[in-house]
Amino acid sequence: MSSTKPTILVTGGAGYIGSHACLALKHAGYDVIILDNLVYGHRDLVEKVLQVKLVVGDTNDRALLDRLFQTHNIAAVMHFAAYTYVGESVTEPAKYYRNNVTGTLTLLEAMLAASVKNFVFSSTCATYGVPETIPIPEEHPQNPINPYGVTKLMVEKILADFDRAYNLKSVFFRYFNAAGADPSGLLGEDHSPESHLIPLVLFTALGKRKSISIFGTDYPTPDGTCIRDYIHVTDLANAHLLGLEYLLKGGDTEVFNLGNGSGFSVKEVIETARTVTQKEIIATECDRRPGDSPILIGTSAKARKILGWSPQYSELTQIISDAWKWHQKRHG
Ligand SMILES: NC(=O)c1ccc[n+]([C@@H]2O[C@H](COP(=O)([O-])OP(=O)(O)OC[C@H]3O[C@@H](n4cnc5c(N)ncnc54)[C@H](O)[C@@H]3O)[C@@H](O)[C@H]2O)c1
Repeated sequence: MSSTKPTILVTGGAGYIGSHACLALKHAGYDVIILDNLVYGHRDLVEKVLQVKLVVGDTNDRALLDRLFQTHNIAAVMHFAAYTYVGESVTEPAKYYRNNVTGTLTLLEAMLAASVKNFVFSSTCATYGVPETIPIPEEHPQNPINPYGVTKLMVEKILADFDRAYNLKSVFFRYFNAAGADPSGLLGEDHSPESHLIPLVLFTALGKRKSISIFGTDYPTPDGTCIRDYIHVTDLANAHLLGLEYLLKGGDTEVFNLGNGSGFSVKEVIETARTVTQKEIIATECDRRPGDSPILIGTSAKARKILGWSPQYSELTQIISDAWKWHQKRHG
């Protein structure tokens, strides 16, 4: 059955956040095409859950992109495809610049050739670097402290230039810590290797890890552990829908933070996970890791005001419960 809403190309739609955005797009009646090289994405989730068209390919493949834009009447692109491991970006920066910057540039040039001029981009709070103020507003200086953050900042600058030169309009979202899973249990986080706190804590609850490491207990925070702003992935997905609709209605290029506006410490996350899972979760206290800021919390007032967005799942218990439901099903 064909929909009346336009077709959206979602790069990285077989990954964690992209797949949730595809679900939201589908529910809202859009036609969705996913472009994913499946280096980290999951074919089974696209085929069994999303049931949308999957093109297995790379954003650096200009000929493939040209074919895609010629074959389909694409109204906008949501661009999630990127490599995301901060530590690896330090040891293998070339890989990150080629994928995250050159891949995006190739995609943008293919869009221009096809006169597709609406772009929703996954940026990150890592572009801010070490915060000077908490909560962090969008105007905060951007001084990323690792190549991953630099690649995202470079794309933001490219997008600002492409707006001025070619009238390509974009919304860039700077996410804080994406967490949780689709509340109906259909989708969730499945990174391999996994580097995020909540899934690692839940792997410990599942007995797949012996313990969870707490890096640093002497930070200037109430319990001495780092505080982060966890944003439910379904809230992120809904923000993307609003960002897309803003652009399709003729909105100008804009940047928005996406966070909860409140933070939770590492110890609070572990304690909440113990309550939710009713399992023993052994925590090991370790030295600080270099480069970790004590507190990262963003203000999302701008997204609330301009896009009318408000997080629906801001309770940590809900975020962890949804993730737990998913991890038991996927990894239990
Ligand atoms: N997870 C977070 O907390 C977080 C925070 C801030 C920003 N982000 C950004 O959000 C986006 C999605 O993150 P995620 O956690 O869902 O990651 P993910 O690894 O689960 O998803 C990324 C997807 O992109 C695909 N991909 C990577 N490079 C590609 C390329 N060149 N061509 C085609 N496909 C490619 C991967 O196979 C994967 O399916 C990324 O851009 C990331 O930088 C994530």
